[in-house]
Amino acid sequence: MNPRSPLRAAILAAAESARLQRFVTKHGFRLGASRFVAGQSLDEAVPVLARLNAQGLQTNTTLLGEGVRSEAEARTAVDAYHEVLERIHFEGLRTNVALKLTNLGLSIDEELAHRNVAELVEHAARLGNFIRIDMEESIYVDATLRTYRRLREAGHDNVGTVLQAYLFRSEADLDSLLPLAPNMRIVKGAYLEPADVAYPDKSDVDAAYVRLVEASLSGEGFTAVATHDERMIEQAIAFARGRGVPPERFQFQMLYGVRPRLQLDLVSRGYDVLVATPFGPEWYRYLMRRLAERPANLLFFLRNLVRG
Ligand code: FDA
Repeated sequence: MNPRSPLRAAILAAAESARLQRFVTKHGFRLGASRFVAGQSLDEAVPVLARLNAQGLQTNTTLLGEGVRSEAEARTAVDAYHEVLERIHFEGLRTNVALKLTNLGLSIDEELAHRNVAELVEHAARLGNFIRIDMEESIYVDATLRTYRRLREAGHDNVGTVLQAYLFRSEADLDSLLPLAPNMRIVKGAYLEPADVAYPDKSDVDAAYVRLVEASLSGEGFTAVATHDERMIEQAIAFARGRGVPPERFQFQMLYGVRPRLQLDLVSRGYDVLVATPFGPEWYRYLMRRLAERPANLLFFLRNLVRG
């Protein structure tokens, strides 16, 4: 969807209303949030992750939540992620972890978020697992990339991050990170950004997306092509084939509940596919971003509301 379409902007702006939040949080799971969220608890998410694994899909999981307001709340999130890592290991799931630095305290103090994520990256390394740092609003990009760079320079290889094609800066960011052979997920971008930092037109975002994927595949790192856009996927496949990029250097990633048939088609063609499968009681903002991406999702939600 166009990053600055009026409908998208209206949904994201409406998401800030406390009344809407109360209503959706109360009824949303019944109305369709469960299409995008694997459950409200880790116990509910585990069988979903296992089922996806059994279909040949890799997974990552995220305890939904962002923007904690105190060090104590950040600690609660860190402890929950320690439990997630242990549980993944215990259950033998092919699942890694994706998290948001604001959930670990980034909006309070960058050092706090750095300490927290470093602790989780070390725990993941002991269990042979991997942590991806999601990318949030543009105001957090510098701190997120600084944190990623610090982790890599400290010798942690089991960590990756994300670049958003809608930001003008992302191609330069990728250039500066390529010497680290980064593990980079490339997305189009999910937030409402001002026109002075992000392309307003979808065609420009799509063109930047292709450029970023091709630049990343041309480097020495790992590229997660995270999109549901079949055109982008086929272009990445053709580029990787043309350049002889080995299959272990890239992967396709999609969201739980979005284009499940395409996910399985790619697996049957022999490609590595990871499904990002979040869980947790704080699913409201995540759901609103998914509804804003595609009006049909909003209609699905409203239809369930009318049906009661
Ligand atoms: P686009 O929006 O052009 O959609 C292409 C097609 O995909 C649509 O025509 C439709 O068929 C389908 N589609 C897309 N979204 C859909 C939806 N919600 N429901 C149903 N169908 C849909 N963003 C970010 O800013 N930071 C991040 O860290 C991440 N992380 C992330 C991880 C993974 C694994 C994925 C797949 C995506 C993200 N994103 C993200 C979100 C990303 O920025 C973007 O908003 C969505 O992926 C939608 O964009 P597409 O690339 O799919 O293309």
